[in-house]
Amino acid sequence: MSADPLLAWRKEFPILEHTTYLISHSLGAMPRRAGEALQEFVDAWSRRGIRAWEEGWWEMPFTVGDRIAAIIGAGPGEVAMHQNVSVCQSMAVSCFDWNGPRNKLVTDGLNFPSNDYIYYGLARQGARICRVNSPDGTTLPTELMLAAIDEQTQLVSVSHVAFRSSFVQDLAAIAHRAHEVGALVIADLYQSAGILPVDVRALGVDFATGGSVKWLCGGPGAGYLYVRPDLLRQLRPAATGWMAHRRPFEFAGGPMDYAPDMFRFMNGTPNIPALYSARSGYDIVNEVGVDAIRAKSLRQTERLIALADEAGFRVTSCRDPRERGGVVVVDVPNGKEVTRELERREVLVDYRPGAGIRIAPHFYTADEELDRVIEEIRSICTQLPTL
Ligand SMILES: Cc1ncc(COP(=O)(O)O)c(C=O)c1O
Repeated sequence: MSADPLLAWRKEFPILEHTTYLISHSLGAMPRRAGEALQEFVDAWSRRGIRAWEEGWWEMPFTVGDRIAAIIGAGPGEVAMHQNVSVCQSMAVSCFDWNGPRNKLVTDGLNFPSNDYIYYGLARQGARICRVNSPDGTTLPTELMLAAIDEQTQLVSVSHVAFRSSFVQDLAAIAHRAHEVGALVIADLYQSAGILPVDVRALGVDFATGGSVKWLCGGPGAGYLYVRPDLLRQLRPAATGWMAHRRPFEFAGGPMDYAPDMFRFMNGTPNIPALYSARSGYDIVNEVGVDAIRAKSLRQTERLIALADEAGFRVTSCRDPRERGGVVVVDVPNGKEVTRELERREVLVDYRPGAGIRIAPHFYTADEELDRVIEEIRSICTQLPTL
């Protein structure tokens, strides 16, 4: 166990003392220091009162956003924190006129459903939604996405790593094609940032969104939005609020006069306690380093696949390391019931219909825990009729 230096982090995550925690694709383990950060929020609120705004809270969507920027290859001031991905997506798509000749939005068939719900809602403003279906529910050949992008396309939405199957999409190729025809790209990084290297500049994406509660080990209610800085001045989000104004404290009514910088992508009062609860996880991911996290994840997902094969389980996620995100999905009979029984035995994973049991090691996972989850699934499968 001691051969793996990342295991030194285990003591920072109290839940690991008693639980086999393989569900960081859904809710990462809470860092001990998040508790201290929340206490800091309580102290600032109770002792400093309204002065807390000028002593850090006002800028906090950006000071915390900078910690995300360091993870996704963005620069300081380029990431604004919001409540969740849905809010960030809604703001991004509200920048466009969907009534003109360039009214097509291409979305990948593995995208997270709430993104689709927002896009289909744009149809009433004239948007044409083109959903590129996955042929097998697990992968999406890049050629299919490229073929759907044409001169009428305004925006292309891609989930960098698919939530259901952990399939990694070729974002760079898709962004390249989109730019060739004058379209922009919005990437959902929720299932990639913090578990595999992401560089929004090298990938060439124009917008990126994601949240905190999975690989980044943050608390709920903190999502992020990156916007390519050279595009800022031409973007005017219709979904907005007073904090996005050039001079918010003049409280001028009438039409919006947008802030010149990323503040134009703010809206109303930010969720300050959520930012306290999320930032410790970002710091830890930066301290551990995403390259080290990815190297371990590749090794452990490989090991999990080998163990699943040995046990005779069907692996429905990708085997090729280039297409494999942080999750291994195994499909066994009665997967939902098996998952419930695993939980009873203090082994946490989850189940998604149409995919199977999702198992996610993270940098704090010990190899023995991988052996344990496969062994427990095997034992439950044989006992299930009698349990
Ligand atoms: C890829 C992806 N995007 C978006 C979401 C949802 O984001 P939010 O609840 O922050 O809107 C999830 C999971 O919850 C996800 O896995």
